[in-house]
Amino acid sequence: MRFTLSTTWLLCGLVSVLAQDTSLKTVEAAFEKANIPADLHITFKPSTLLEVTFPQATGPSITIHASEQLPRNATVGPPHFAVRGVLPATRDFVVATVDPDAPTPADPTVAQIRHFLAGNFVRGRITGLEQVTLVNETVPLSGWQQPTPPAGSPAHRYIFLLFEQPKDFNSQTFVTPNTSISNFNISQFAQEVGLGNPIAGSFMLVAPDPSS
Ligand SMILES: *[C@@H]1O[C@H](CO)[C@@H](O)[C@H](O)[C@H]1NC(C)=O
Ligand SMILES: *[C@@H]1O[C@H](CO)[C@@H](O)[C@H](O)[C@H]1NC(C)=O
Ligand SMILES: *[C@@H]1O[C@H](CO)[C@@H](O)[C@H](O)[C@H]1NC(C)=O
Ligand SMILES: *[C@@H]1O[C@H](CO)[C@@H](O)[C@H](O)[C@H]1NC(C)=O
Repeated sequence: MRFTLSTTWLLCGLVSVLAQDTSLKTVEAAFEKANIPADLHITFKPSTLLEVTFPQATGPSITIHASEQLPRNATVGPPHFAVRGVLPATRDFVVATVDPDAPTPADPTVAQIRHFLAGNFVRGRITGLEQVTLVNETVPLSGWQQPTPPAGSPAHRYIFLLFEQPKDFNSQTFVTPNTSISNFNISQFAQEVGLGNPIAGSFMLVAPDPSS
């Protein structure tokens, strides 16, 4: 009996580790291919998958795959977050979303735009094996800003990063609700408040509305 149980658990463990590894590699490769670690001055070696889901006015929600392009009108948000894989023991997490391509990828003079920044995300509902939603216990420092790439620009990258939250995060003053969302630097902010490297991430591409 004991042997059977532990064998089953061992197999489950192996299967989930293998599945997770493959996807982590895919996400890491997508970040590299889009030159995101270099452009954001970050080290991106994810240990967990970040699932970013946009509710839709009609029809099912959309969960993005890293590098997927979404029509702008599907990104009204605010997005919901979940993680898949082993999370560090930390109670709270920080989520940041930045656009390094504003106003255009070729001339990003006002980048990064901070599209979202919020701490106090905690584990919510368990939705599967090593899969849990993240729920914010406070209002975001920077509430979700829908992408608005200007007419004529190629698609911008909108990059979501998950960090472990340092203990004194709620008393940081580098970003307040009054801080401009333009000319943000996630790498500098991470250093200022001690976020360390992101533990998970994803990104989407969004182009200007066809009519604009
Ligand atoms: C977005 O716009 C496209 C075409 O402009 C339309 O087909 C689609 O239904 C719209 N989606 C939403 C979520 O409004
Ligand atoms: C969580 O964030 C959303 C917006 O992203 C906000 O409307 C909501 O009030 C926040 N929840 C709490 C408990 O503050
Ligand atoms: C933001 O600005 C408003 C009015 O300008 C002010 O009342 C408020 O205290 C400021 N909040 C922070 C966190 O600085
Ligand atoms: C952002 O901050 C990093 C340091 O973490 C720095 O190397 C980089 O040059 C900064 N980027 C910009 C555009 O200021």
